[in-house]
Amino acid sequence: MSQETDAVHAGYRPSGDFRPMLPPLHNSAAYQFASHAEAVEKFALRQAGFTYSRTGNPTVSILEQRVAALEGGAHAVATATGQAAVALSLLALTQGPKHIVASSSLYGGTVDLFTDTFADFGIRISFVDQADPSAWAAAIESDTRAFFLESVSNPLCTVADLPAIAAIAHEHNIPVVVDNTLATPLNIRPLELGADIVVHSATKGLAGHGSVLGGVVVDSGKFDFSDAARWPQIAAPRVRLNNTSLLERHGPAAYAMLVRSKFLHDLGPTLAPASAQGILAGIETLPVRAAHVQRSVTRLIDALAEYPGIAAIHHPSLPCHPSHELARTLTPKGTGCVLAIELAHPSLVSPVIDGLKLISLAANVGDTRTMVSHPATMTHCRLSEQQLAAAGLNTSTLRLSVGLEDSADLLADITQSLDLALAATQATAGTKEVSFA
Ligand SMILES: Cc1ncc(COP(=O)(O)O)c(C=O)c1O
Repeated sequence: MSQETDAVHAGYRPSGDFRPMLPPLHNSAAYQFASHAEAVEKFALRQAGFTYSRTGNPTVSILEQRVAALEGGAHAVATATGQAAVALSLLALTQGPKHIVASSSLYGGTVDLFTDTFADFGIRISFVDQADPSAWAAAIESDTRAFFLESVSNPLCTVADLPAIAAIAHEHNIPVVVDNTLATPLNIRPLELGADIVVHSATKGLAGHGSVLGGVVVDSGKFDFSDAARWPQIAAPRVRLNNTSLLERHGPAAYAMLVRSKFLHDLGPTLAPASAQGILAGIETLPVRAAHVQRSVTRLIDALAEYPGIAAIHHPSLPCHPSHELARTLTPKGTGCVLAIELAHPSLVSPVIDGLKLISLAANVGDTRTMVSHPATMTHCRLSEQQLAAAGLNTSTLRLSVGLEDSADLLADITQSLDLALAATQATAGTKEVSFA
């Protein structure tokens, strides 16, 4: 099926007595077993089915199947937030104090997880320039258990050369985990380009309405986890599994089962069924939204690229962007709703933000409503100066997440705010020479 059709139908066909057209909300913590024998088999993971909603729920399961279909993956596990999806996907691969190679251009919350919480667990991270495949190769250590990157980075929209990076990783039996939040599967399908696992903050473009939080881990089911010395958590017998291995029991679904039956089960960041239903409703309109947003992004860039007060726009559609060529082949439909606007001077940041009347100052992306944020003091505020510089961010950079309003209204809002901020700065400077060219 095409993605447009999967977005509406994957994972659900009306059934049962009432045949509801929409995926029903199964708001139940527990499930009745027909017999004790059935309960024994399901708890021992020898028989598929729902036991308790921390590890699986019928509404959540529809969402998992839908996102897996959109990404071209084999299995998916939903989580309470995108942050939980990132954490669980990697905890399942590191299984203790191991090493990860990660892009230096990541969402700030992921950097916090890596440099603080993961560091406390003894997980070491080497950050590398996403655009330089040789840097990924050079950073590999004997206990590297994952590469982690964003398909389209937040907020500078660097497009990852996934085929090149995946080739390096696979030479060393390392799985590639890709955060596909910003691009969404409508713009790029990392699993088709060599990635092994995709994670999402479904809070963003998948839901699209900003009313719920959620995350998803999608597994291709193709990575070779059969080396028990390297991947004991998957290929070696576990006491927890009656001295069998996940691989023996679940074959290509072993990694997804590890995420679900160990990490979701033990740590508990489970997606609420009502949130799953909300995300499912959002996904239905994802293809239409993605097309609208792409048109608006293009119009805004065309009108703002040379506008006074703007030093640069960071977006792969512009020839000066480092990912311009790569984006033509890997993301021909666009890179999603985000673009980064670098103002001519940090002193313009507050007046420009505060002068916006339609666009909201808020830390979300992929919402119906257009939002602006200042990464250096908001989403990426805990990064050091060096980390900000490595991510290509400075104190003049604004992130815009384009929503579904008319692009003419958005443009009018941005230009009136820029005009006012520039005029005020010139007036304050008085006779002093001020040039933001
Ligand atoms: C690229 C990316 N990944 C992960 C996350 C974390 O998602 P959540 O806020 O749903 O926990 C975010 C949040 O902004 C994000 O932008």
